[in-house]
Amino acid sequence: SNLDQLYRQVIMDHYKNPRNKGEITDGSVTINMNNPTCGDRIQLHLKVEDGKIQQAKFDGEGCSISLASASMMTQAVKGLSVEDAMKLATIFYSMMLGKEYDEENFDLGDIEALQGVSKFPARIKCATLAWKAMEQGVGKKDEADE
Ligand code: FES
Ligand code: FES
Repeated sequence: SNLDQLYRQVIMDHYKNPRNKGEITDGSVTINMNNPTCGDRIQLHLKVEDGKIQQAKFDGEGCSISLASASMMTQAVKGLSVEDAMKLATIFYSMMLGKEYDEENFDLGDIEALQGVSKFPARIKCATLAWKAMEQGVGKKDEADE
């Protein structure tokens, strides 16, 4: 369909022109995470301050879905509170499982372009890799605060 085609274009655009690629030099946590099924990996840098994700950047080697998802994820969570970022991750996981999801007040933006991945179970881990890294990263920050 036209929608599938549009979604494919959005995914390829993020893959070819990744948003927020790179490092954060100051006050950030770094999470390395790999997809054990293929060995692809991403490195995520998050700067969390005052309970908010101030900055998110990534680097990595992986398939188009994993890297496009990392690009979309950084774009989506930047500026969100940690709590909202976790909620958004939950919404994304529902989407990946092909479940109904309530987008609440979030602007899902480009991440909805990945909803078709739910039809390809083997690829779901590609799409969730960056989100798992984000969850681990904000968790790390919480531990450091205590
Ligand atoms: Fe990597 Fe299709 S996105 S094989
Ligand atoms: Fe490795 Fe997609 S095939 S992350």
